[in-house]
Amino acid sequence: MNPIFPSILSTDCFNLQSRLLQFGESGIDYIHLDIMDGHFVDNLSFGPSLIEPLKRMGFKVDSHLMVSNPSKMIPKFIEKGSDWVSFHIETKDNIVENLKYIRANGCKAGLALNPDTEIEQLYPYFDFLDYILIMSVFPGYGGQKFITQSIKRAEKLSKEIKKNSNKIYIQMDGGLTGTVINTLKGSGVELYVVGTHLYKSEAISDKIAELMEIINGE
Ligand code: DX5
Ligand code: ZN
Repeated sequence: MNPIFPSILSTDCFNLQSRLLQFGESGIDYIHLDIMDGHFVDNLSFGPSLIEPLKRMGFKVDSHLMVSNPSKMIPKFIEKGSDWVSFHIETKDNIVENLKYIRANGCKAGLALNPDTEIEQLYPYFDFLDYILIMSVFPGYGGQKFITQSIKRAEKLSKEIKKNSNKIYIQMDGGLTGTVINTLKGSGVELYVVGTHLYKSEAISDKIAELMEIINGE
C-alpha cells in the first residue's frame, strides 16, 4: 500500500483526469476523498457519485466524511464502493455502531480528530478502529498551514496504540509538504494525505517520487 493518499479537494476539476493518471503511473493506490456537507464544515465538496469513476480507474477510495450526520452518510459511501471510511469523533454520532457497520460491510473503519480535540477521546474506540485520521489543519479547506503540535499528538497516540494489540494506522491530513513529512518521521504516522503540495508543479510524479524518498529515507 502506497503511504501517500492524495487529496483531490484542491485539484483543478478540469484536469482531474490527467492528474489521476499521473497518480496511477506513480504507484498511488488510494485516493483521499474529502466529503464536506456545508454544516460540519462551512464548505461543500463532493458526493458519493465520484467513487465509481475513481474505482474504474483502478484506485481504492478513502472517504473522509466531514459531515454532521455520519450515520446517514456512511451507508451511501459504502454502497458506492468506498474502501476506507472515516468520520469525525466530534459528531458524537453512534461512534461504535458506525465503526462496526463500516467493518461489517468489508471496509476499513476510521475516526477523524480535529486539531483541538484531545487525543484521549479516541482511546475507548481502539478495538473498533483500523485507522485514525489526525487533522493537522482545521477541516474545510485545502492549502492551509500545518499545525506543528500535530507531531506531538501523533507521538502520544502512537505510544497509546502500542499498548493495545490491534494494528491501527495513523493518518495525517492537512498542510503536508516534503519538509513536514520529514518532521513526522518516528512520530508513528504511517499514512500521509497530501493535496495542495502535489499540485504546486505540473510534474506530479516528480513530487510523489520526492515524497517517497523522504518517507523511505533514513
Ligand atoms: C481539509 C481536508 C484535507 C485537505 C488536504 O479539510 O481534510 O484533506 O484537503 O490538505 P492539503 O491541501 O493542505 O494537503
Ligand atoms: Zn481529508
